[in-house]
Amino acid sequence: MTTKNRVLSLLEAHRGTHFSGEELAAALDISRSAVWKAINGLRAEGYQIEAVTNKGYCLAAENDVLSAHGISQYLPEKSYAERITVFPTLDSTNQTAKEYALKGAPHGTVVIAETQTGGRGRYARQFFSPAGGLYLSAVLHPDVLHFPHITAVTAFAAVTVCKALEAIAGIQPEIKWVNDIFLGGKKVCGILTEAVTDIESGGIGWIVVGIGVNVWIPADAFPAELRDTAASVFPQNAPPDVRNRLAAAIITQLVSENVPDETEIFTAYRKRLMRGNCTVVQRDSSYPAAAEDIDEAGHLIVRLPDGSTQALHSGEIRIIPQPNEH
Ligand code: BTN
Repeated sequence: MTTKNRVLSLLEAHRGTHFSGEELAAALDISRSAVWKAINGLRAEGYQIEAVTNKGYCLAAENDVLSAHGISQYLPEKSYAERITVFPTLDSTNQTAKEYALKGAPHGTVVIAETQTGGRGRYARQFFSPAGGLYLSAVLHPDVLHFPHITAVTAFAAVTVCKALEAIAGIQPEIKWVNDIFLGGKKVCGILTEAVTDIESGGIGWIVVGIGVNVWIPADAFPAELRDTAASVFPQNAPPDVRNRLAAAIITQLVSENVPDETEIFTAYRKRLMRGNCTVVQRDSSYPAAAEDIDEAGHLIVRLPDGSTQALHSGEIRIIPQPNEH
């Protein structure tokens, strides 16, 4: 571990406690100038480290800087940390993860950014990606996932994010089919799954799952056109280090070699599925329906006004939830 990370670990383990340069140097068996250099390096990376005369250095309680080291503290399997790269900013973590995949990145390679300048959503939309979000893409290999239906990959990602949010934030998010995560009627997370076909086998070569969570983006920071439909998990008072903890909870499930089977994933998905009135939007038409369930392949079952049902396939259709009548 680098000196910088050793200093950070000690401060992180005792958030809110002050340590003099001398105490840090003695605890870590390094010189005081090495401590000073490490503190300056950490501050340059964005860590809020207070220095109080006669008391010493202290990591601010509200500090929330994403780092592979910070995430690794919360990973049960410490070796996962070697596969994580955190960037201050990227065009798109999906784009970078795809470049890694093309160079042969192993299953579970994770790319994270504090912000994205060209965050991508489904249907070629932009994904608003300022500071305060978690933008994470994972390279996954189909030989590890081996789901009978490719739709299970997206369901797996959506269930993973919900479980991580339930554990870290104590909330009960819902999944709007296919893979938007909603809280209190507003979208707090979007997922973009991209796959590449292996020309030789005709099967899927690798998959990139991109997850964007609005963690603590203030409500007034969203552009006007998103304010009615998007929100943050913590519009205020986010707990300390929440994004490292959330990233670790997502990574732990997503890159594990022990992937749940498809039936288990779809059962967990059903439990969280947003049901009720919606508008089904096709390329050149839209019609009212009610979202009822998903079938065994992850297709959405909607009931039409004439009482019949229809199974919707993602990619061709999207749904917009509508308020239910009571
Ligand atoms: C959507 O809501 O349409 C999907 C949004 C997916 C956004 C995430 S953020 C991390 C990853 N990188 C991207 O460019 N997109 C995904």
